[in-house]
Amino acid sequence: MLSLLFVTLFLVGCSVAKPPAGAIDKELVGIVGGHNAPQGKWPWQVSLKVYSYHWAAWVHRCGGSLIHPQWVLTAAHCIHHRNADPSTYRIQAGDVYLYGDQTLLSVSQVIVHPDFVYAHLGADVALLRLAEPADCSANVKPVKLSSLNLKVTRKDECWVTGWGDLSFFGWLPPPFRLQEVNVQVVENSLCEELYQNASRHRYKDRRIILDSNVCAGSEGRGPCFGDSGGPLVCKVRGSWTLVGVVSWGYGCAWRDIPGVFARVQTYVPWIQQQIHSSS
Ligand code: ARG
Repeated sequence: MLSLLFVTLFLVGCSVAKPPAGAIDKELVGIVGGHNAPQGKWPWQVSLKVYSYHWAAWVHRCGGSLIHPQWVLTAAHCIHHRNADPSTYRIQAGDVYLYGDQTLLSVSQVIVHPDFVYAHLGADVALLRLAEPADCSANVKPVKLSSLNLKVTRKDECWVTGWGDLSFFGWLPPPFRLQEVNVQVVENSLCEELYQNASRHRYKDRRIILDSNVCAGSEGRGPCFGDSGGPLVCKVRGSWTLVGVVSWGYGCAWRDIPGVFARVQTYVPWIQQQIHSSS
């Protein structure tokens, strides 16, 4: 109950806004198997950027989700190291194009989950505190976190979004428009079986897919490199809920190899604790 209240409090100050009808750009097949996302449809999606001396610009490194006006949830493997300097990151919010002319948001604090070692060992989540709360608008709005007892199944409507590669060997070309793909959740036990098969049972004595993971995607549909940290959202009782954070996978959207995500509900208590103790 308390957590429900908290999740609701998160959204105060950023009321639900109707997305504007998106301008239709030339269709592109992207994320893997997706297409251009309409402006304002996924207002929590952000790009985590790092400075490139080569390009003399802030460049996209990972996706992320606004979960509170002042907090972004991303993947821990997107952060250089535990004590990364917050000033080496910027957040872009509110635009489906990666390199528009909007001001980037500064980060004042980076919190990597204490249990994180490698993505495939779990706890692949990190929080970034924005120096100033984002101005919520039709295109900038936090997403609701999964509740602790939420059960998503393959019958739920779920989507992955990001600016990552279109295939194992293909980058998203300019103008770098956000991509969306409708994916099916794959039950953990089946996902484990698929990954055990794919790794020829080399890991039969240990679990590959942890309880703190959720799997989603199918042949030709799913996240790829550069989508990491970004959202897997599912429609729960009419509202979009953050269910996963893009974490890892064998290849990208290969047959019988779903994408692996950090299961957000596992980390909700940790997220709430961090946000409370930092505010
Ligand atoms: N870890 C990758 C990244 O940094 C991509 C994760 C999604 N991957 C996948 N291969 N299914 O963007």
